[in-house]
Amino acid sequence: MLEAEEFPGWGGPRYYEPALKIAREDGVRDLVLHYVSHRIAGDDLEIVLKDINDPVEVTLHYHVYPDSGILRRSATIRNGTQRAFTIESAQSAVWNLLPGDGYNLTYVAGRWAGETQIQHEPVHEGQKVIESRKGHTSHNFNPWFMIDAGDAGEAHGRVWFGALGWSGNWRITVEQTPYRQVRVTGGMNSFDFSYPLKPGDTLDTPPFYGGYSDAGFGAASRTLHRFTREQILPGGATSRLRPVLYNSWEATTFAVNEAGQRELAGKAAKLGVELFVMDDGWFGARNNDRAGLGDWFVNPQKFPQGLKGLIDHVNSLGMDFGLWVEPEMVNANSDLYRAHPDWVINFPGRPRSELRNQMILNLARSEVKEYLVAVLDKLASEYNIRYFKWDMNRSFSEPGWPEAGAAEERRLWVQYVRNLYEIFDRLRAKHPKLEIESCSGGGGRIDLGVLQRVDEVWTSDNTEAFDRLRIQEGFSFAYPAKIMSAWVTDVPNMNGRSTSLAYRFLVAMQGALGIGANLNKFTDQDTALATNMIAAYKRIRATVQTGDLYRLLSPRTEDVTATEYVAADGRQAVLFAFRHSQQLREDAPAIRLRGLDPRAVYKVESINNKLADRQQQYSGAYLMSSGLNLNLRGDYDATAAILERL
Ligand code: GLA
Repeated sequence: MLEAEEFPGWGGPRYYEPALKIAREDGVRDLVLHYVSHRIAGDDLEIVLKDINDPVEVTLHYHVYPDSGILRRSATIRNGTQRAFTIESAQSAVWNLLPGDGYNLTYVAGRWAGETQIQHEPVHEGQKVIESRKGHTSHNFNPWFMIDAGDAGEAHGRVWFGALGWSGNWRITVEQTPYRQVRVTGGMNSFDFSYPLKPGDTLDTPPFYGGYSDAGFGAASRTLHRFTREQILPGGATSRLRPVLYNSWEATTFAVNEAGQRELAGKAAKLGVELFVMDDGWFGARNNDRAGLGDWFVNPQKFPQGLKGLIDHVNSLGMDFGLWVEPEMVNANSDLYRAHPDWVINFPGRPRSELRNQMILNLARSEVKEYLVAVLDKLASEYNIRYFKWDMNRSFSEPGWPEAGAAEERRLWVQYVRNLYEIFDRLRAKHPKLEIESCSGGGGRIDLGVLQRVDEVWTSDNTEAFDRLRIQEGFSFAYPAKIMSAWVTDVPNMNGRSTSLAYRFLVAMQGALGIGANLNKFTDQDTALATNMIAAYKRIRATVQTGDLYRLLSPRTEDVTATEYVAADGRQAVLFAFRHSQQLREDAPAIRLRGLDPRAVYKVESINNKLADRQQQYSGAYLMSSGLNLNLRGDYDATAAILERL
């Protein structure tokens, strides 16, 4: 039986998802890869495969990370023949599971403002595909999965997981063959894929990371979190904790100017904010979303002296300055588009569909890439900018590249992403202190590829706190709290719902805390509460951002949602609890903690006095077996309890 092949070419009697499919110039599409050689060096393994007839070569790369047991896989395809061929599908890796029935698949699905909703379903015969055909990672699915042996839960059971490092079109195919073979094939999406390879040329596929836990979904997530923090993010384990951020968008939308921003900055600094970010509206003719994208020069009416005055002011208040940009985009009404209408992706003679009134610059073209590097480098050189909020507010359509010609133009899907990565890499190399947030109209660009180049991601445009519990839960299956930007915003929010300011803070404090509320509307009471919450957050921030996350009670199934973070050194733990809606006078359940030292004694305090009994010291064993009673009443009540090990 050939079904468990490590990297099958499409050729011979193979009827399942191939890892590589090519078409030679003479029409021959048969590709049968055989082992040639291998090499082991330290934590790396390379295996060379070759077609049975001609030198179509594949090198499989494996790297094992000993701390986590995570394996990184990718492939290099080389044309060793004398004639060009076209690659029609080039996957990064195939993961073969032990043959059997009863596997379950877990993944996230969603949409704008409703991202990362957990899906959990049996693996059946046939294929299940999650993918993006949208040019970016997308809000709809994320290139991450878990497969369990059928009986796993948060804290028990065998779980295999994988995640792709690619921010363009991707595809993960989970397949059970009629012979009970279960395989996961993933990499760049083969849909509309066509990559010509000249003699001697190579194509590298993006990394596909895979790992395993025998202690349930929670442990699998923790392994992935630690791995992402230490091995993927820029700076790894040495990178700084995420600062408390203020962003002006929801307060001002496009109506930014120096006086207004100064006023907000003064108020933000008093609350304890560390990074002040000015959002959309500061450049070109950008007074609404119909004009200005592409014209990355400071609007002289809004900022007559440029940005220096504002940035100096922000810095003098002890905060770093950040700036919103959306470099990949252009409005038809912009100087850039008037000068270079050919720079957008398009098919000649066909509509150039606009979404949010904008088109996409063809980053695959080197002149466009160089232009963007120059523009952003100028901003980062001229001004003391610590942080770019890098937005990307629409998906691809009409993905043409007329200048490349019909045979080459579908390379756009690959080259766009590579050039995007190059822009990030060059900016970071030249400006080592510069940090970047990956925002894509909400959580449309979150994956282990972009995360090698950014410090934080925008989780969702939906900042409504109760909705956020589910969005953040799904996010937490795959990605660490440290990068999960979470804002406190005004109410009533998206669904018309209003929750208390304390509730909104506690939801956002489970990630990288930001404030997006209109501070001009804050009462003295709001200001006092926000100041206290930010101070409390700073006390627990290292635990939240770099500790171990335990998902105790899920917003999908329970009246109370609870998460717990345990510091790497075990000295602090934080419990967050949110009550949805009390009914029939039922008390909230005692919440049993996890991951504590059973023999240690913990001093427990609630941020807002919600401990149900007076006792404030408990053993770890008691907290894990009997649990903590919290006085959560009515609708949308919430608390955080800080546990310090004595
Ligand atoms: C997107 C982002 C928002 C904001 C606006 C600005 O929607 O997700 O946070 O930056 O763009 O236009």
